[in-house]
Amino acid sequence: AAGAEKTPLSLAFEAIRGSRTDAVVVPAGYTAQVLIPWGTPLNGQAPAWREDLAFTADIQANSVGMHHDGMHHFALDEGSASRRFLLAMNNEYIDQAALWAPKGGPTNAEQGKRPAEEVRTEINAHGVTVVELQKMDGGRWGHVADSSYNRRYTSATEMALSGPVAGSDYVKTKYSPDGTLTRGTNNNCANGYTPWGTYLTCEENWPGYFIKDADRQLDDDRLGISTGRGRYGWETAAGDASERNDEFARFNATPTGDSALDDYRNEPRTFGYIVEIDPYTGERAVKRTALGRFRHEGCWPGKLVAGEPVVFYTGHDSRNEYIYKFVSEALWDPADANRPGADVDRLALGAKYMDAGTLYVARFDADGSGEWLPLTPDAETRDGRTLAEALGLAADDQAGVIIHTCDAADLMGATPMDRPEWGAVDPASGEVYMTLTNNSQRTEEGTAATYTNDGDDIQETGVGYATAPTNAANPRAENEGGQVIRWREHAGSTRFDWEVFVFGAAAGDADNLSGLTELNQFASPDGLHYDDRGDGQGILWIETDNGYTNVTEYTNDQVLAVVPQNVSQAEGDASVVGGGDQARLKRFAVGPNGCEVTGICFTPDKTAMFINIQHPGNWPAGDDATAETQGSVRPRASTVVIQREDGGRIGV
Ligand code: FEO
Ligand code: CA
Ligand code: CA
Ligand code: CA
Repeated sequence: AAGAEKTPLSLAFEAIRGSRTDAVVVPAGYTAQVLIPWGTPLNGQAPAWREDLAFTADIQANSVGMHHDGMHHFALDEGSASRRFLLAMNNEYIDQAALWAPKGGPTNAEQGKRPAEEVRTEINAHGVTVVELQKMDGGRWGHVADSSYNRRYTSATEMALSGPVAGSDYVKTKYSPDGTLTRGTNNNCANGYTPWGTYLTCEENWPGYFIKDADRQLDDDRLGISTGRGRYGWETAAGDASERNDEFARFNATPTGDSALDDYRNEPRTFGYIVEIDPYTGERAVKRTALGRFRHEGCWPGKLVAGEPVVFYTGHDSRNEYIYKFVSEALWDPADANRPGADVDRLALGAKYMDAGTLYVARFDADGSGEWLPLTPDAETRDGRTLAEALGLAADDQAGVIIHTCDAADLMGATPMDRPEWGAVDPASGEVYMTLTNNSQRTEEGTAATYTNDGDDIQETGVGYATAPTNAANPRAENEGGQVIRWREHAGSTRFDWEVFVFGAAAGDADNLSGLTELNQFASPDGLHYDDRGDGQGILWIETDNGYTNVTEYTNDQVLAVVPQNVSQAEGDASVVGGGDQARLKRFAVGPNGCEVTGICFTPDKTAMFINIQHPGNWPAGDDATAETQGSVRPRASTVVIQREDGGRIGV
């Protein structure tokens, strides 16, 4: 009611101790259930999963993919959205030992030609799963076994290119002579979503799947396309020159013909994008190239305001890479907001808001302010040239700027970060949070990169770092703890203000800058979610993917929660970073041995929380996530649904 005081939100669970077991640990009064583990059939064409099931390409194409990562809740109708919905979820990469366990492992994993059917199966274990979930009698959750919405997108599914790069010479291939199509999405790590009801899946460690022997280009080196063997040797299934099979030859970008239309030299340039999926229709997915080309971790919409541009934040998860922001040319029309069940061309709305706009990269200054630097051909670089000139491109070549996004960002003077992972936005204040997970290549002074290619103009002007010097936003050398950064935009300007929200560390570390204790020590923050609870309040959830021994010797990867104070609330308490939020950070859940905890979403009523357990070592024992494994099991990445025994809202 008008004038009523809002009730301050506070966390009502007791923080849990660390744990190192083959089980998911949750606070007293909570339950955790395994849901849609890898290999769960999505329709009648795949058999039930079993310990000794021998996977085929066909079985895997009709089952939940492997290594669950980012995910999002899509309502089917508003009224039942907390009991029944579509989950869109990334399947980032694979555990070959688990996939091929019945026959003892992959064939010729280390040398020689891999069998086509095995490679097809592995390709089909990657990508995205869309599955209908429902809450059943008794409060447990299950998937709808034969839902017509259940479907897979794999690393072989045909997808369209859209935005500045589409149709350019950079992406013309034997498969797509006009440069508008490609096959597959790969290493989809974090995710995003759009206000118009689509899923965004983000291509992260895709360069490891391509090889290239000759005619190397600078963007290949910067992103890490190797001259050796691909991550799983998929390219070997193509056979030698006489039998080259396009289905797999596309993973080898070595030129074999006279022109780009004869081979797959440009295939890697059809990867590294934000990919838009309409989970309601299964229409052909679209790679939105305007949002940059690099190792995208995820993509998050900013605060939405009618009549203002739509904004997306996206980070490049590599050491000393950057944070980006895309600002749409089209202005937000609330009539375009998602209406579940409506017959709407959502990908046309994606084209409206994501194909035209300006991509910016962030510079974080030492005084706590920052600047968004435009990545357009006519932007002025640090040394006073145009970006097009500095990159050796035609004056209007926005596609070229996108292909060379990271080099363009160097030239503009962006701040190299400690591996940007997930972002989260408080929809009321518009404050943006982003995890910076760790950085083994950060030193006090920094050392310059040495590019190995010759004969390319870019290397003379690109900066790049072998190790980057510490800076205000990334102040720790050999950063093993990581940090969460937060910023606030200045309305109508390219300026912003920022501060470090919390530093990860072990409680006993000398550089435990946020004063963490046994009950909230963590390192390598990765997953992040702002859980809006109304009244301008919310819970920030932090998930970890940690290898820092001072913390791993105490606990497996975990989920922590905090009700953040904004800067105005923290005024007058200048002694603590982020207004003292770290003191209120509480450990909520701990994953099983060997895993990382990633992916996060809630039902709209906040009574069910979904997280993903990726690459567990020996889990799950059954469908109770909290049951400790006895003996050894064929491990399966799984979604876990956490609920309160009394059916109440999570966390409060
Ligand atoms: Fe797939 Fe940056 O984690
Ligand atoms: Ca991962
Ligand atoms: Ca991640
Ligand atoms: Ca990570």
